Amino acid sequence: MLQDKDRIFRNLYGFHDWRLPAARARGAWDGTKGFIENGHDWIINEVKTSGLRGRGGAGFPTGLKWSFMPKNDARPSYLVINGDESEPGSCKDREIMRHDPHLLIEGALLASFAMRAHTCFIYIRGEFIRERERLQAAVDEAYDAKLIGKDNVHGWDFDIVIHHGAGAYICGEETALIESIEGKKGMPRLKPPFPANVGLYGAPTTVNNVESIAVVGDILRRGGAWFASLGKPNNTGTKLFQISGHVNNPCVVEEEMGIPLRELIDKHCGGVRGGWDNLLCAIPGGSSMPMIPAEQCNDLTMDFDALVKLKSGLGTAAVIVMDKSTDIIKAITRIAYFYKHESCGQCTPCREGTGWMFRVLDRMQRGEAELREIDLLYNVTKQVEGHTICALGDAAAWPVQGLLRNYRHVIEERIEARKALAREAAE
Ligand SMILES: Cc1cc2nc3c(=O)[nH]c(=O)nc-3n(C[C@H](O)[C@H](O)[C@H](O)COP(=O)(O)O)c2cc1C
Ligand code: SF4
Repeated sequence: MLQDKDRIFRNLYGFHDWRLPAARARGAWDGTKGFIENGHDWIINEVKTSGLRGRGGAGFPTGLKWSFMPKNDARPSYLVINGDESEPGSCKDREIMRHDPHLLIEGALLASFAMRAHTCFIYIRGEFIRERERLQAAVDEAYDAKLIGKDNVHGWDFDIVIHHGAGAYICGEETALIESIEGKKGMPRLKPPFPANVGLYGAPTTVNNVESIAVVGDILRRGGAWFASLGKPNNTGTKLFQISGHVNNPCVVEEEMGIPLRELIDKHCGGVRGGWDNLLCAIPGGSSMPMIPAEQCNDLTMDFDALVKLKSGLGTAAVIVMDKSTDIIKAITRIAYFYKHESCGQCTPCREGTGWMFRVLDRMQRGEAELREIDLLYNVTKQVEGHTICALGDAAAWPVQGLLRNYRHVIEERIEARKALAREAAE
């Protein structure tokens, strides 16, 4: 279990003041000038040493990503912070933005300096109105205290622009987000070129998740080696886990990467509703990640590598717990409806496939399907997965694949039961 001394987010629950003096008393903005004086490469190297992997879902190494930014380019460089947080189950970035906004602002300055950017855009999910107001107030405080802005105390001119979305899930995808900031429809771009070469306004851009940036100040203060000493090799540091669904106390909690799922649920959430034996399955990382059935949850550790081995993923570490009262076909049908609704419609496999998968699942949950359609559904998920411009197609296909892999028998039983009823009625 994470010790209090290793906690980064000391005001996660908003029990204390979010304003600048209180944030400073908790450690934010301490030593920032010295880190900048150490130079761009020093910061990137510390972040590389920390082993920090992006907290937005894919887990790409953050320091490595920063090193892709050009060093001598006539164009401006930009940092874009992704606060869209629309993946069902995810609810961590909003806690940072509303309760510990100065950690994010300090991290934004440090990351931008590391990548030679003088401007950072923070893109906030449209529905997060109070979070946007709070973050703006904190940014204004930072300007007033000359921590950021022109001729600030850190010696690196730096502006933050807060941009709010209009509530589309797809705008969390980094290139759709860039399009949205540019005032266009949030539709993902084909890659390459990658944003590090051609990003916002055609200039070098790095997009990072809110949590990835908010931990940077503490990584530099305590050292990359300290962060790397927490968690497991290749899965280092602390992480905000968000646990919802059939637990007694749903919560967001900072824990060590690699914490056992059972410990997370029992220690922080008061256990599964009805006890551990009442667990049906858990979605480990937001709705796009395939569920893990109860029998694999017993010894499961919550980190990128352990979950990939089980054909799932840590994603945003948003754990959705489902107990045995869950109609698992109905649950996945609801998720499929979400992805169908949020598809931007640019690519045929995603536009047509998400609707197709939803409609078949919707019949399956009522048992109104043929057994042969189970394999057909699996084939369609394979036609969507990996055949689209962005990963929304994969995100739509994976939960369905998880259902077919783990609960095929439930679908078969429901179809058989419906057929039996129909036969009885006909007799
Ligand atoms: C459909 C879709 C939605 C996404 N939504 C988010 C989001 O809400 N927040 C986020 O940080 N990343 C989201 N991502 C991932 C981003 O594209 C990007 O990888 C991430 O912001 C990079 O940050 P990181 O390297 O710090 O993890 C999404 C990706 C896809 C395909
Ligand atoms: S995969 Fe879906 S959401 Fe992504 S670009 Fe294609 S149609 Fe749009």
